[in-house]
Amino acid sequence: MKVINVAGARPNFVKIASLVKAMKGVPAIDQVLVHTGQHYDQSMSEQFFDDLEIPRPDINLNVGSGSHAAQTAEIMKRFEPVAAEIRPDLVVLVGDVNSTLACALTAKKIGVDVAHVEAGLRSFDRTMPEEINRVVTDAIADLHFITEESALGNLQREGISPEKIFFVGNVMIDSLLAHREKAERSSIRTRLALNGDSDRYALVTLHRPSNVDEPAVLEGLLRTLDSLAARVAVVFPVHPRTQHSIEANGLRESLKSPGLRIVDPLGYLDFLHLMSHASLVITDSGGIQEETTVLGVPCLTVRHNTERPVTTEQGTNRLVGNDPRKLLEAALGILDGRRKNYTTPKFWDGRAAERIISVLLDQYGPADLRNRARGEPIAAGSNGQRFE
Ligand code: UD1
Repeated sequence: MKVINVAGARPNFVKIASLVKAMKGVPAIDQVLVHTGQHYDQSMSEQFFDDLEIPRPDINLNVGSGSHAAQTAEIMKRFEPVAAEIRPDLVVLVGDVNSTLACALTAKKIGVDVAHVEAGLRSFDRTMPEEINRVVTDAIADLHFITEESALGNLQREGISPEKIFFVGNVMIDSLLAHREKAERSSIRTRLALNGDSDRYALVTLHRPSNVDEPAVLEGLLRTLDSLAARVAVVFPVHPRTQHSIEANGLRESLKSPGLRIVDPLGYLDFLHLMSHASLVITDSGGIQEETTVLGVPCLTVRHNTERPVTTEQGTNRLVGNDPRKLLEAALGILDGRRKNYTTPKFWDGRAAERIISVLLDQYGPADLRNRARGEPIAAGSNGQRFE
């Protein structure tokens, strides 16, 4: 069977890595890796291919940045001839970025099936560009691979047949577990002079438009980080969107505490190392809510909602919104020892890619590999659980 795997933006690389590697070991799968070029800086793209040892993309569409419409349209225009020429049995899409949506629309319109990995997550906030990408991609996808049980109800409410839904676990966690040992050898804490007396630090990422595009909101958050840095070292790798907003709005001087380590975006291994050893993580990223849950590190999410409720119900995640006072109070509470009990969500065990491939072979593979009749439930815990 012929598969096109697509990745475009930073979190996509972490997700596609485990799929690309697992597919390499399956002779029945002929895969092509397409990079849309949505993210292109060395630190946002190439560094992730190096750290995660992903083979270089077979095709790079080099779309670059733009408005949502311009970027989505450009990806569609450039992906269409590629998909039409390769004529795969299936396009595999991960996550919820513009590249995910653009390639889903393109593939379906030329009659190619689409599998969506990380389907069914919903924040129920349609001001988030990612929520639009999720809803539209899921509405047209042929196979839905889900990471947590909330996604099942969400998809069913939107009329997706349970036959198309497979509970397989989390490919991002596959990558985390596969690289944890290597990340442990990173020297990033020494490079950032974090091996001080207490060895404690908070790790921060912020890049959601709702937090960084509005100057007053961003300024409030930056001042909170500055206050927190009076108590504990704060490491803040700054996403390009946030960097642009800080510069454009003259907010550099909000960040003056000597406890702050403001750095450029970090590679996967350095970031995983920092996350694993942090006293606390403050973020608005989706993936980091999941990664901290598996690492058992307290996470404060600077949002009012999450599309990943399992991380708050079972994991270490807590939603704090973007009120600076509440954020500081919650952060200080954690530093004073307030911690949640947590468990690792079901199937977040490093075997999600394996389960996905098993389903793909079952549905699209050569006849002799379709060893299960269509509709037969797949054993939970080994090959992915089918909801029927
Ligand atoms: C995108 C995703 C978001 C994801 C995030 C992870 C969408 C709608 N958003 O947001 O879901 O959480 O990636 O990082 O797909 N830029 C650079 N260099 C790069 C890439 C971007 O400087 O390599 C700058 C450009 O000025 C660009 C801006 O960052 O305009 C935003 O990039 P874009 O890909 O549009 O959105 P992100 O905020 O990165």
